[in-house]
Amino acid sequence: MTAETSSENTRWVRVCAVGDLGDDDAVRLDSSPPVSVFKSNGEYFGVDDTCTHETYSLADGWIEDCVVECPLHMAKFCLRTGRPLSPPATTAVRTHPVRTESGDIHVGLPDSYELKEGARCGTA
Ligand code: FES
Repeated sequence: MTAETSSENTRWVRVCAVGDLGDDDAVRLDSSPPVSVFKSNGEYFGVDDTCTHETYSLADGWIEDCVVECPLHMAKFCLRTGRPLSPPATTAVRTHPVRTESGDIHVGLPDSYELKEGARCGTA
């Protein structure tokens, strides 16, 4: 099964222009639940934005080598898999597919995720 055929229940949402997201930076989408797209080492990653330890935005965290560190209690998450790499978080964050098309970054959201204000995004 390819990524494209597994997207039956995935809605592709424009996040921002490729040029608007620098390396080791993130953009938070105005969705419920919130989702952020990260860029690190030249790759893009989509993950649920809320830390699984407590409620805090991972887009505000420290990003390096495809890992994000939550700024509140320093839990680290692998952006590729969503798995926690250090305590206090023990639960993975959900990951989402990301693709670039015509100079824009798009993230694939499950149908159950709502966009609060269309496809508008906020800079983390
Ligand atoms: S809220 Fe993220 S580590 Fe505690």
